[in-house]
Amino acid sequence: MKNSTDEYLVFEKIDEIWQFLTERWRDIASEAIGKKGRFSSALSGGKTPVGFYRHLSTAGRLPWDRTHLFVADERCVPSDSPDNNFGMIRETLVDKVAIPPENIHPVPAADLSARVAAEEYEEELKRFFGLAEGGVPEFDLILLGIGEDGHTASLFPGTAVLRERERLAAPVTMGPALHDRVTLTFSVLNNALNVFFLACGKRKRTVMKKLRSGFDKTLPAAMVRPKKGRLFFLMDRDAGG
Ligand code: 6PG
Repeated sequence: MKNSTDEYLVFEKIDEIWQFLTERWRDIASEAIGKKGRFSSALSGGKTPVGFYRHLSTAGRLPWDRTHLFVADERCVPSDSPDNNFGMIRETLVDKVAIPPENIHPVPAADLSARVAAEEYEEELKRFFGLAEGGVPEFDLILLGIGEDGHTASLFPGTAVLRERERLAAPVTMGPALHDRVTLTFSVLNNALNVFFLACGKRKRTVMKKLRSGFDKTLPAAMVRPKKGRLFFLMDRDAGG
């Protein structure tokens, strides 16, 4: 069901989405740093956010020394593969800003199986967030994309990982075409303080309609319901109608 605090925002131009999101990023980072001394975010791969990362890389006066970048999901491919999510984030953002190397937290998916990489990523989450047994990270900002089938991060319709409630990061077996993957689980996505979905282009229109109607609750993207955080859907006119 749609939550009254969800915000569905449709923008005329894609650049306006990047501008809006950059300002939210700035505000959320500043608030998080004021309270906790650091700002934590988990970013998505795919094509949609590329323009945003480029935009963010040129936005002045952002507190990169206090910003920590994780990923929402990763594909088990070499780090220089075009399919490597963190590789894309590195090229479009990380390499262009003054972020200390210890503030970036890629999934070690290049040389490990999805199972082992997920275990290592979960350990990294526990270490960074100082979690006790059963604790869940509280990201300040998570940026998600959405597939035409309603998947988000690497949470695909009909897969067992949708029922995962214990793990923070889990392996997903997708086979060679889509690559095996590591994904943050719903426990983590739904414990974030701010979640932003990005959807652009006509191909996303049908799935966005379904999501907005609140009718199909089995769509993975519809299962992102932050318990205490805010949820935003940022769309261009092609996706948002
Ligand atoms: C991935 C993702 C995935 C992505 C969607 C949308 O690594 O594949 O993180 O969930 O966000 O598939 O992808 P596009 O932005 O390319 O449409």
